[in-house]
Amino acid sequence: MTEQAHWWQRGIIYQVYPRSFMDRNGDGVGDLAGVTSRLEYLEWLGVDAIWLSPFFPSPMADFGYDVSNYVDVHPLFGTLGDFDRLVAEAHRRALKVIVDFVPNHTSDEHPWFQESRSSRDSPRRDWYIWRDPAPNGGPPNNWLAIFGGSAWQSDTTTGQYYYHAFLPRQPDLNWRLPEVRDAMYDVLRFWLDRGADGFRLDAVWYLFEDEQLRDNPPNPDYRPGDDPYHALLAAFTSDLPEMQEVMAEMRAVLDGYDERVMIGEIYLPIERLVAYYGVNGNGCHLPANFQLILQPWDAAHIGAVVDRYEAALPDGAWPNWVLGNHDKPRVASRIGPAQARVAAVLLLTLRGTPTMYQGDEIGMHDVEIPPDRAQDPIERHVPGLGLGRDPERTPMQWDSGPQAGFTDGTPWLPLADDAARVNVAAERDDPRSILTLYRRLIALRRAEPALQVGCYVPVPVEGNLLGYRRELDGSEFLVALNLGDIEQEFAPRQPDLRGPIELSTHLDRTGETVDGSFRLRAHEAVVVRLK
Ligand code: NOJ
Repeated sequence: MTEQAHWWQRGIIYQVYPRSFMDRNGDGVGDLAGVTSRLEYLEWLGVDAIWLSPFFPSPMADFGYDVSNYVDVHPLFGTLGDFDRLVAEAHRRALKVIVDFVPNHTSDEHPWFQESRSSRDSPRRDWYIWRDPAPNGGPPNNWLAIFGGSAWQSDTTTGQYYYHAFLPRQPDLNWRLPEVRDAMYDVLRFWLDRGADGFRLDAVWYLFEDEQLRDNPPNPDYRPGDDPYHALLAAFTSDLPEMQEVMAEMRAVLDGYDERVMIGEIYLPIERLVAYYGVNGNGCHLPANFQLILQPWDAAHIGAVVDRYEAALPDGAWPNWVLGNHDKPRVASRIGPAQARVAAVLLLTLRGTPTMYQGDEIGMHDVEIPPDRAQDPIERHVPGLGLGRDPERTPMQWDSGPQAGFTDGTPWLPLADDAARVNVAAERDDPRSILTLYRRLIALRRAEPALQVGCYVPVPVEGNLLGYRRELDGSEFLVALNLGDIEQEFAPRQPDLRGPIELSTHLDRTGETVDGSFRLRAHEAVVVRLK
């Protein structure tokens, strides 16, 4: 398996949110030259690939997820030349570069939409989804936008409504139209030809909507105070079967190149998520699995979800696990800084490609953003529900200097108040830091094929504890994790598990031999070499 495994199976993916990673030109917003200047760090950390959130021209209504030109770089982030230099430098360091591809919608400033909205007879009219008003003049049906309000925006120029799954400034493309597909596949080729090693497909389960425009049904589990979007079930606006054909077509484009990866952003229950591997594996290589973000953090839920996911994977499908991203509260804030170390051990020892989010490796937490500095459109469209994503998007903390070494200017979002202590420079040489833990876990995983591609065998155990073995070709590890905040006895039913601890969350038990049952302190996890 090791030799045949692809880089995206063995490797670790690190998400870079370019606005907040490193600013080289002093405007307070990160840029591509900044990313290039920090590749040395990523190589030192030991990750294999970076996924870059959007850096394309955009009016920034949704911070780049509203693209007005798919084949260029926003001046805030640099130029195409900066992208080429980034790729060249990354490849020189054996790092892969994954580009964010936003297929569901463009910006309302994209020339395609400008043309489409200009008249009912525009040759690009059908590139977007236009419908007449309902008989009462209101929106064509009850569909809701994820970022608040109706998903239909009326447009005075032509007296019709257009559909937008997200913001009104993010009109949905019409993927039923072959011309749209061809234009978008050309975009894929553009970045592949420039050396991109693959794509993360944004919001890919939203590509199609019901052609008959049937109303979405009410959600019986909706409670007042929940995100209003969830008042309805997205039965007719997401996860439609037409998706399979498009995924296969995108995949065929990638397959025309060597060793590229296709990752899908899909928030669906496991049983539906796995459909995005496609028919006989002709879809995404990695439909992103967000269960570690979504599940309650205790051994019962996490253990059950690992088992359910492993069982649901189609033949030949490769698993993956995501611990954080720019849309969800940070792991250190979700489960606390001590459990975040346990989560690191879990992420990097489970079977499947791990995806980490920038800053989680130094223990960054969510930063409270004063209302007058709020940036995220969700915060402004659906205020007061805590849906805004600014807290997890604050600048990367590099050192204890001004602005944490992120910028010489004023950062676009405020820095965490503990940035002088929680930063790369301070943690790099600290033998007990979370950064040291991440780096050692990554090094161990890189050195041990059993941890990269070995099989996963649960080790049943009582209490708020998780246990499993990873094994390959006679080499074998036990991973034991305490998901609780009290000391617990790890007493597996299988009594013959014995060997030296290779690594532990607290970084103080390496070399200690455990045998049968042993104590795990609060928030402690260990990786034991069995064979
Ligand atoms: C998912 C992206 O991760 C998120 O940041 C964005 O707002 C939506 N898709 C819309 O593109």
